[in-house]
Amino acid sequence: MGEGREGRRRRKLRSGKSISVGDVLEFLNEIYPPSFAMEGDHCGLLCGRRRVPVGSILVVLDPDRRAFAEARSAGADLLISHHPPWAPGRIPPGGRTRLRAERVPLITAHTNADFAPGGLCDLLAEDLGLERIRPLMQWQGLPVGRVGLVRPPRSWRLFRGRIERSSDDLLRVSGVLPAKVGKVALCSGAGGDLIPAAFKAGADLFVTGDIKYHSARSVLELARGRRKGFAVVDAGHFGTEKRFIEATAKRLARAFPGLRIRRWVDRRPFEPLGGAWSRCRGRREESGR
Ligand SMILES: [Fe+2]
Repeated sequence: MGEGREGRRRRKLRSGKSISVGDVLEFLNEIYPPSFAMEGDHCGLLCGRRRVPVGSILVVLDPDRRAFAEARSAGADLLISHHPPWAPGRIPPGGRTRLRAERVPLITAHTNADFAPGGLCDLLAEDLGLERIRPLMQWQGLPVGRVGLVRPPRSWRLFRGRIERSSDDLLRVSGVLPAKVGKVALCSGAGGDLIPAAFKAGADLFVTGDIKYHSARSVLELARGRRKGFAVVDAGHFGTEKRFIEATAKRLARAFPGLRIRRWVDRRPFEPLGGAWSRCRGRREESGR
């Protein structure tokens, strides 16, 4: 954040010295501070050494074998992902060895990228055209989720278009749709645990991903007690988080204009039968240079 780091980075860029994994890590820690990560989450440099020089970066959502294979085929020296390879709080036996065997350093920005100012929750709120955006709640001292206003309030039919354009994923709805959408809560990724907070905040809609069956049933119960309606829109885990790739790649390209920044938008892990989504089969995109 401080001018000091920015100044050091600019001086280094001007001096022609090579950019290292450590330099990129320092920049990511500025835009997605680790202090915004949930306890036990795997964020930061998970594999590789800081002093390794970097000429090319691949930004992805998931660091699975497909992503590492894509990184090697694209000649990337560093993989940056939103999701970590492991669930919070534990590393499976042999996990680090398997990661090292991929031979590409990995930096992850997970819940810190979700909740930091300007991170995924804020980007989703902007995408949906919300105003007066604020955190939905504090959890473990972190600003989790967002809530904001739609001004002037829009009909569900019009607001649905915003969600569809933002998500590009399958939408599912639970609850009672409001006639007018004036207040919207949201959380990127799997935000089902925040349904009660969204209801309590007076939101007409809660937009998130990965809603489970019992969570959807709880929405029906909540909505029954409110005349104006309350609904949860499951806009997909992929749909609410895919902008990590574009947003992070853009910020990296601005900070390190000499680096080749590639984006790998992998296909969704599932599709509706009938192949209605054939647009996203995994594609490589490039920014910078
Ligand atoms: Fe996620």
